Amino acid sequence: MDFRSDPGSSWLAALIAPVSPDEFVSRYWARQPLFCRGSADRFATLLSWTVLNELLAHHWREPRRFRLARQGRDIDPASYADIAASHVRIRASDVTDQLRRGATLSFDAIDELHEPLTRLSESFETFFRSDTQINLYAAWRALHGLDLHRDNQEIFIAQLDGRKRWLLYGFTADGLDRTGLREHSLPPAGAEFDEILTPGDLLYIPRGCYHLAVPMNEPTLHVTIVPMDEPSSQHWFSTVTPVGSGPCGSRRGLILSPPTASITWWGPFLPPPDQSRSVFSLVISRCSTRTSRKRSPLAGAFGIGLRSLY
Ligand SMILES: [Fe+2]
Repeated sequence: MDFRSDPGSSWLAALIAPVSPDEFVSRYWARQPLFCRGSADRFATLLSWTVLNELLAHHWREPRRFRLARQGRDIDPASYADIAASHVRIRASDVTDQLRRGATLSFDAIDELHEPLTRLSESFETFFRSDTQINLYAAWRALHGLDLHRDNQEIFIAQLDGRKRWLLYGFTADGLDRTGLREHSLPPAGAEFDEILTPGDLLYIPRGCYHLAVPMNEPTLHVTIVPMDEPSSQHWFSTVTPVGSGPCGSRRGLILSPPTASITWWGPFLPPPDQSRSVFSLVISRCSTRTSRKRSPLAGAFGIGLRSLY
């Protein structure tokens, strides 16, 4: 999908097609999940492995952005980062080792660092009148990272590369047998939604809906787009919105209600498609040729390229 070729369309309409934004607001927002298949290349201009490699190579002094988790447990940051105040840094070789052993990498607030994601985040902020953060997730093995959980925000998931299995369980996890999950990353039975996301797919998960993501023993990359609870400077409206029963059942609480006004288009800020994910073979070791003191220890450690940890 080339957003630039259709300036009359909105980003949200493109993301959730064939559901219209109005239908999304009235039927899905804060109510029930929405799953939209898309063409494999429609998120190609958002982020590539190459760009991710470069971002990691430049932000290795920011452990706060890094989170590693495996089989439902966060990995102790001290095992892969020097977090003493005097020389805070990520130790690339240890990160790589954890990833090879099945950890999932999350990298927070990547929208602060990469222009296309910045524009996407700003578009969400314009539409939802709420601060928005985009986080990245990458995994290579078949172990789940985060445990079965629910979030206190609405979540949009855009699958960028590879495949990942997503399961939704509704608004209660009572009665789920997690034994197989804890021991072997086998999802509990009883999921209301069980699909494999492929590149170009979008999944919306309303807050409070229990969910689980399981890699499939291949490189997988996705971003989560999260409108936060606190409205931006416009201070529009935060209302108690009665919600009905959907596939995830009924919910209660304060929720943001999005406006139905037209929304901004972020296509002009995207790089041309031919500068995107097509060059996965570009390796992070390329960064190791730099002589700057900011040269990343990630560079040499990842060596063969972040996508290929095998
Ligand atoms: Fe989540």
